[in-house]
Amino acid sequence: MSDIVATRPTPIEPRFWTGTPALDRASYEVDARHFDPTTLTDPASDFAATMRATYERVGLVHAVGTGITDHVAMRLVAKHVLDAEMPYRAGANPRGSIAPNVYEIGAPLSAWLHYHHEMAYVGTSTSAIAFTCRAALPGRGATFVADNVRATEAILETELGRKLAELGVCYRRDLTDREAFTGREPIGVYNHWQQSLETDDPEEAAQRAHDQGLSTDWGPDRLLRTRYYTSAFEYTPSVDRNLLYCSVADHYLWFDAWPLVEQLPPGQRPLWMTFGDDSDFTADELRTFVDVYDRFGTPIDWRVGDVAVIDNYRFAHGRPAIHLGPGEERELGVVLGGSFDRVGAVPGKW
Ligand SMILES: [Fe+2]
Repeated sequence: MSDIVATRPTPIEPRFWTGTPALDRASYEVDARHFDPTTLTDPASDFAATMRATYERVGLVHAVGTGITDHVAMRLVAKHVLDAEMPYRAGANPRGSIAPNVYEIGAPLSAWLHYHHEMAYVGTSTSAIAFTCRAALPGRGATFVADNVRATEAILETELGRKLAELGVCYRRDLTDREAFTGREPIGVYNHWQQSLETDDPEEAAQRAHDQGLSTDWGPDRLLRTRYYTSAFEYTPSVDRNLLYCSVADHYLWFDAWPLVEQLPPGQRPLWMTFGDDSDFTADELRTFVDVYDRFGTPIDWRVGDVAVIDNYRFAHGRPAIHLGPGEERELGVVLGGSFDRVGAVPGKW
């Protein structure tokens, strides 16, 4: 890692919004109670058509009032909008499955999750992400979405935005070896390469990382160190322009409130992001990066049965830390949309 900071850095806690939603809820909410309840999982239903039309217009749809209580049926509702599904391969988070093609969130509830675009840090990303809600904490536990068209316009007005456009970024990830942690407390572990890359063979793991556009080298204890140089922006066909496709979620400050990692200095944390010339972000630049999404945030409040589908280009998503009381439960499932190979920014499309 570059310029190792020896001590724990000052956490940067996101605010997620201004206190006023950036989007009018009526623009993206679809109330299933206005439709025939026997047809909600039917892709030919009026409900499905309304979900698709809402998503195409806004880049976001939140279906409420479905009365559905299991992830399997909620996934079918998400599929009204998702054109295809991709597996969560080469992903950062350690995710298991909670139903076929429905993944766990893979992050501790007690950590706040900075705004991010799903899988921006690999060459094959996803066009959309859906959440299905099986257990909720009414009034809290919201996911937030940030309007990325407005965030892009705002960051391009800053020196940080100009640097990101000119230099791009480098994502560095350290993937630990599952075997090296057998019987050991997983301090500093984010994801083992066996889990992220879905193989126990180190050669196959490196090949799968290369297939994602990453360069690799092996460190002590079979630590797989990856780097990926790419644009901080991504050409977005649906709006025919380049949008921001990068956030501090892939920087070491992702772990500022992460159990078993937060106490580590940056050089020992599993993620690090720099500009594309390997120079570090300053504290001011990181703060600006967080603020630019926070200014355009909207909370998505969850009730059991809700399904939200988020265009991964047009919105970033994240959430504050959640602390459960006795007997409380909050469970969202994740369904990824179709995959696409990143092209970065396209000249003339700013
Ligand atoms: Fe995410």
